[in-house]
Amino acid sequence: MDVERTPMTLPRVAEMSAAGEPIVMVTAYDYPSATIAEAAGVDLVLVGDTGAMTVLGYDSTVPVSMEEMLVLARAVRRGLRTPLMVGDLPFGSYERSNEQAIESAQRYVKEAGCEAVKLERGGVSVDRARAIIRAGIPVMGHVGLTPQTASQLGGYKAQGRTAERATQIAEEALALQAVGCFAIVFEAVPAAVTAALVEKLEVPVIGIGAGPADGQVLVFHDLLGIYDGRVPRFVKRYAEARREMVEGVSRYAAEVRSRRYPQDEHTYRVDPEELESFRRYLDQESLASSAWDW
Ligand code: KIV
Repeated sequence: MDVERTPMTLPRVAEMSAAGEPIVMVTAYDYPSATIAEAAGVDLVLVGDTGAMTVLGYDSTVPVSMEEMLVLARAVRRGLRTPLMVGDLPFGSYERSNEQAIESAQRYVKEAGCEAVKLERGGVSVDRARAIIRAGIPVMGHVGLTPQTASQLGGYKAQGRTAERATQIAEEALALQAVGCFAIVFEAVPAAVTAALVEKLEVPVIGIGAGPADGQVLVFHDLLGIYDGRVPRFVKRYAEARREMVEGVSRYAAEVRSRRYPQDEHTYRVDPEELESFRRYLDQESLASSAWDW
């Protein structure tokens, strides 16, 4: 018997973390990916700015706008019922001022039905997180490899491999926790650094390439093998969906070209008398001449 799942809440996320129950988060960017996340029973869905690359075809997360993210988030909302929905604040939508950050976060809530937002880095982002939380919107932090500012970090590589950088990550995470973030994503951080920090943090740590933590997040297109770009070493493929999709469309193309599709079972019927009457209409002399009469 299917147990009816109740919508995920922030207190439930905290409870899961306190009880040592792993938290499952996945990204989604449209209605089908949202319905798949819903059916699979994940706890949290992130409308990640990785959608810039996976569905919009940009070569990084930097160019995607708030308007574009809202289109994706609204589609995800239509497909989601139980997971908690988090909107990822894109680069340039929150850094300038607390007012800008609150406005962007409110747009996710009001225009797309998000329950929380995520922002990247410590520093000024800590002030932005505090302001958004004070405005009544829950915030998830994100430290370690922060793709929006990857060039400042020397590219897409693991972070926290020196004591100095691990200390910076710790300071950022503690500051984000202190201003009230309900969870923090750790991306591309050595497992031992994550383990040491999880001990010191009260809020759940959601890892991606960060070893075991309170929860895990993966990019939908990476875990299902839909995205054919370069994927980081921490990605585990749970399916090869792109291969299947390419094979399916290729078979369709081949069948159209060889006239094996469509077959009788793919067509609609019409009453023979109606067809006959229609044919009589087409056979009219006047119809043939009227075709050139303009
Ligand atoms: O945008 C995204 O998908 C993310 C995850 C990698 C955490 O930020």
